[in-house]
Amino acid sequence: MKTLDDLLRQERFSDADIIRLLGLTDPEDCERLRRAAYDLTTRLVGDLVHYRGIIEFSNRCTLNCRYCGIRRDNRALERYDLSLEQLVEGAVWAAENNYGSVCLQAGERRDESFVAFVEDCIREIRARTRSERLPEGASITLSLGEQPLETYARWRAAAGEADCMRYLLRMETTNPEIFARLHPDGFAHEKAYASRIQALRDLRTAGFQVGTGGMIGLPGQTLADLCADIRFYQRMDVDMLGMGPYILSRGGDMLDEGMLEQGPLLQLALNMLAVCRLVLRDVNIAAATALQALAEDGREQGIAHGCNIIMPNITPRPVRKRYQLYDNKPCIDEEPTDCRACLEGRIHRMGRRVGWNQWGCSSHFRRRMNLPVVVLSAIDIADERSGSSLMDIPVQHGSTRMESVSIRNRASLTKS
Ligand code: 5AD
Ligand code: FES
Repeated sequence: MKTLDDLLRQERFSDADIIRLLGLTDPEDCERLRRAAYDLTTRLVGDLVHYRGIIEFSNRCTLNCRYCGIRRDNRALERYDLSLEQLVEGAVWAAENNYGSVCLQAGERRDESFVAFVEDCIREIRARTRSERLPEGASITLSLGEQPLETYARWRAAAGEADCMRYLLRMETTNPEIFARLHPDGFAHEKAYASRIQALRDLRTAGFQVGTGGMIGLPGQTLADLCADIRFYQRMDVDMLGMGPYILSRGGDMLDEGMLEQGPLLQLALNMLAVCRLVLRDVNIAAATALQALAEDGREQGIAHGCNIIMPNITPRPVRKRYQLYDNKPCIDEEPTDCRACLEGRIHRMGRRVGWNQWGCSSHFRRRMNLPVVVLSAIDIADERSGSSLMDIPVQHGSTRMESVSIRNRASLTKS
């Protein structure tokens, strides 16, 4: 069998390689995997971590996904909707605080008043987030589930010409049986599975940068299933990934099926993130908030394993409690300002920088569109570091450069 180091030097991986990497448990092996993913990230994607301020604007949902705390049949939950003004104000606050990008998420609805509401919000946000620092306004990610192509096209058109629109639609799992078990509602199961894939295709047709992902550690899920998920992401040629551990939700309908133990679940999720980085290479990968439900520094660990996106919660505090997709969700009692400072501290302590006032499109998307790809490395990061780092993080030294120019790779290891 190949040594782990040889395997990690590869640029292409067989299914057997992927399954072996996903299943690593020995701490030294896991650290080698982490290191390889982290180095590839800083080399290929750069040292910037981009923010998408997420506004959870309504917890009304027409679906009944069994894992989810805001599913339709959770009658204990008080439902809320933010007004257009509240939502747009949140986005404007984000832009004023140098976030180049916002994400609008809500329960799934397809009625005309909802579609038109989102359309109006997109128009307003695009108009009202323009400033000297952000002349093109904020970019917007929508996370609003499966919709007909016409709806995707309307939302895309509302944003204007610029390539500023992204959509996150998680596949959740590519195992059709598990998918069917999670989603009891609506159409015949096979159709629901196929319609999710069709929706991902429609998003591309409508002109969105497309992200997908899944939950890690679902009851009944195997390493081979996770490997199949990664192959699916490859086949769909996605620009972004949003993935996180599956966490039990008291509002959901899966209490009997339990969840993985916290420690092994966190490691599996981190392995999955790292392997996705190694296999998919230049996509944007979000450090899911759910990681922080398992460990206080879960999102930093996500960054240390190859993520380059964080989604600070900018939902107004009074309604945050009512948007708990899973239990133990962090930042429920914080204000947007608390999260801003807290997260920036976390990122700096890791020797990384925030990509303020940038859209932060994935290199994958830029290559796909034949746009120039600039990779910013951790210039002078040693000066910026204030000493103590949380983890043993490798830092790339070098200067701003085009990726095509040969890369001087003087990786060094700093540890306080
Ligand atoms: N645990 C982890 N992630 C969850 N999501 C929903 N419920 C849970 C849960 N119990 C994720 C789903 C969905 C995203 C918005 O939140 O993957 O796509
Ligand atoms: Fe919300 Fe730290 S990110 S308080």
